[in-house]
Amino acid sequence: MASQRTVAADALARNQVSRAGRPASAPRMGYSAQPSPLRSKDLPLDTVLIGDCIAAMNALPASSVDCVFADPPYNLQLGDAGLLRPDQSRVDAVDDDWDKFASFPAYDAFTREWLAAARRVMKPNATLWVIGSYHNIFRVGSALQDLGYWILNDIVWRKANPMPNFRGKRFTNAHETLIWASRSADSKGYTFHYDALKGGNEDLQMRSDWFIPLCTGDERLKDEEGRKVHPTQKPEALLARTLLAATNPGDVVLDPFFGTGTTGAVAKRLGRRFIGIERDPGYAAAARERIAGVETLSQAALLVAPTKRAEPRVPFLSVIEAGLVQAGETLCDERGRFRATVRPDGQLDNGLVVGSIHKIGALVQGLPACNGWTFWHAERGGRKTCIDAFRTEIRATMAGA
Ligand SMILES: C[S@@+](CC[C@H](N)C(=O)[O-])C[C@H]1O[C@@H](n2cnc3c(N)ncnc32)[C@H](O)[C@@H]1O
Repeated sequence: MASQRTVAADALARNQVSRAGRPASAPRMGYSAQPSPLRSKDLPLDTVLIGDCIAAMNALPASSVDCVFADPPYNLQLGDAGLLRPDQSRVDAVDDDWDKFASFPAYDAFTREWLAAARRVMKPNATLWVIGSYHNIFRVGSALQDLGYWILNDIVWRKANPMPNFRGKRFTNAHETLIWASRSADSKGYTFHYDALKGGNEDLQMRSDWFIPLCTGDERLKDEEGRKVHPTQKPEALLARTLLAATNPGDVVLDPFFGTGTTGAVAKRLGRRFIGIERDPGYAAAARERIAGVETLSQAALLVAPTKRAEPRVPFLSVIEAGLVQAGETLCDERGRFRATVRPDGQLDNGLVVGSIHKIGALVQGLPACNGWTFWHAERGGRKTCIDAFRTEIRATMAGA
């Protein structure tokens, strides 16, 4: 994936800003020399645009990206003294100009502007991730809701190795929060790979608290003097989980606060396309170099397994019609506690009630619901075989046909 710049990208680059602020000649929205908005097919894919993200997003076509991952300034408000350890040494904290805002209203205005710009470029079924800390995430959350986004989850990223609270006056700040939101309450069909995440979590539903280490070791970009290239480089594992959950291979992921390009590096590795926007040319250069060294995983590794819900429905009657289970045969649960007889119409009879595999499964256990496919078993070659195996066989035949 080449980092080729388009006309729009070049126009944006002409308006490069310094680390300390926006170009003096340009207002925040709509540069004077701004190109007319692009068409979707001209999207600047796999490119790092240098400039203010609001203007850059306003120059992109509406409804053109599948996912937004945003790691905006947190407005940490550290003050001029910075953060000191008990021995008075300075903590390497985020005191960069890009993280400073004059007031909460100024931060709120900025937040609303970039969230509105991001919402315009999102496809109707796209979702947005925003990461933040207690300093900003509540403000971001309320702006999101005011703008019409619909919050799907808040994820707690529990840090495996958080920085201690040096003054001992508060709890160790050991997590950050990611908000995951759809474009609106009635957005339909957003991507969520429920089954893949569950499969990777030893068949337990993936929860909203993620335990992931900070970005350290070889992954952390350092300059020749061994200093961090970026103060807030995010761990690739965090990005990988968000993109695996909410995007498909080939999807376009937009990151308006690209920094050193963690989103781009992970997107490329996972076979997704990216658009990065970063106003600091130094960070953008580091991101480009980093991404150039990333290899995309093989297509086979990236194939998304079909979700259970997307698989064709198979009635239990089809299993009987295919001769995989016989009418009159007795089924039982895995531990052999409950039995029922298969009827020729595809229902089960437990001697008292006749009903579907699900209904009789629930009834014999005294439960409100039951997945009959995984509950009932048939005796095959002296072993209990789950009837779901027969459904899988039928689905394989359907796929072949
Ligand atoms: C929290 S950092 C993102 C770090 C990134 N996730 C990474 O892993 O390297 C925020 C970045 O947004 C950039 N930034 C701040 N305001 C911006 C704006 N208005 N437009 C574009 N970039 C901006 C900063 O220069 C900084 O690199």
